[in-house]
Amino acid sequence: MQERRELNVRAKNDIGNIGADVKIRQDFDRYVNNKRTRPFFIHGDSLGVLKQLPSESIDCCVTSPPYWGKRQYATKGIGLEKNYKLYVKSLVEIFIELRRVLKKTGSFWLNIGDSYKGKKLLGIPWRVAFELTDNHGWTLRNDVIWNKVKGGLDNTKDRLGNVYEHVFHFVKQEKGYFYDADAIRSKPSESKVVNGAIVSATGVSGVRYKRQIELSTDLSCEEKKNAFQALENLLQDMRDGKLSDFRMIIRNQQRTTHSDSIKVSGRAKELKDKGFYFLKYHPNGSKPRDLWDIIPEDTQKRKGHYAPYPVDLCRIPILATCPEGGIVIDPFVGTGTTTLTAMGFNRKSVGIDISDEYIQISQNRCVSLF
Ligand SMILES: C[S@@+](CC[C@H](N)C(=O)[O-])C[C@H]1O[C@@H](n2cnc3c(N)ncnc32)[C@H](O)[C@@H]1O
Repeated sequence: MQERRELNVRAKNDIGNIGADVKIRQDFDRYVNNKRTRPFFIHGDSLGVLKQLPSESIDCCVTSPPYWGKRQYATKGIGLEKNYKLYVKSLVEIFIELRRVLKKTGSFWLNIGDSYKGKKLLGIPWRVAFELTDNHGWTLRNDVIWNKVKGGLDNTKDRLGNVYEHVFHFVKQEKGYFYDADAIRSKPSESKVVNGAIVSATGVSGVRYKRQIELSTDLSCEEKKNAFQALENLLQDMRDGKLSDFRMIIRNQQRTTHSDSIKVSGRAKELKDKGFYFLKYHPNGSKPRDLWDIIPEDTQKRKGHYAPYPVDLCRIPILATCPEGGIVIDPFVGTGTTTLTAMGFNRKSVGIDISDEYIQISQNRCVSLF
């Protein structure tokens, strides 16, 4: 007990508070008002801890709960329920409380793996997602597939190996949630000037399009005139740095990827009405897609914990949906990957775990960054 007390005092001075006996609400308020981005760790059951946090106080949650029925963590907790329905129920209860503590502009990123019961793949991620969206007010914005690239050991002989997990992006409200798309764009490739003409990084100069417009037997004179003018305007935008690249689709020249029905596709309508349209690349670079190839953490290096996710998995969620100076929460913090990433990006963070041992690991990991 004496040792435990000393630990709490030291932890308070160094990094935040641990121990279920601390007054969570008071400490949380103090943490929020402090400028430091060192994480605030809370040892306890996430449902109970979340209930003590004030409403609308957190910007973003990134988390991965334990799988159902697969792993035995150091202490009890989620994942050990008798059947998967109880597991879904326990998770949903926690995420209802999470929704209350999130700000109206808040986001929730849930990395969740599936489980088998005998031969049956249970579809647990979607069961949780449907429950949250259909009955508890969450809006699902993306279902990101985390491709782990190399699968784990798989001794089965009658099915394929599993190599992906879901990362769902939910928001508390459909409109007005915080999303900084520019923070996650990849750097655009540069256009250059060749013999006085602007050429995009992928070699588009407009010369080929001009010839196609000129020779087209499908465009009327008026449509040709308009297409030339629109193309000139776009090349000027590229010279001015307003656009990094583009493609032009001309009626009966380029293959289109949309539906031909003008009822379903705005582009098909444009093609019919005007004879052309443009696909424009964003000047600040392209947005990441919803398939992420990320190799899992090397679990050999960390003792005692078997399911950390990689820092790279938290990067986009935190940069895109937690404003600078905002607070990230992870109600299943494990070895502290979320808090470590948040700290690296200058965001505050709160990490909750039922296991004292993992809180210690998280704490030590983050201390090494100071
Ligand atoms: C999959 S691990 C999280 C791994 C983490 N993302 C990382 O990078 O290390 C899930 C964690 O949830 C914790 N946990 C399980 N039930 C809990 C509960 N009811 N409240 C708080 N934490 C719980 C476990 O102790 C475990 O550390």
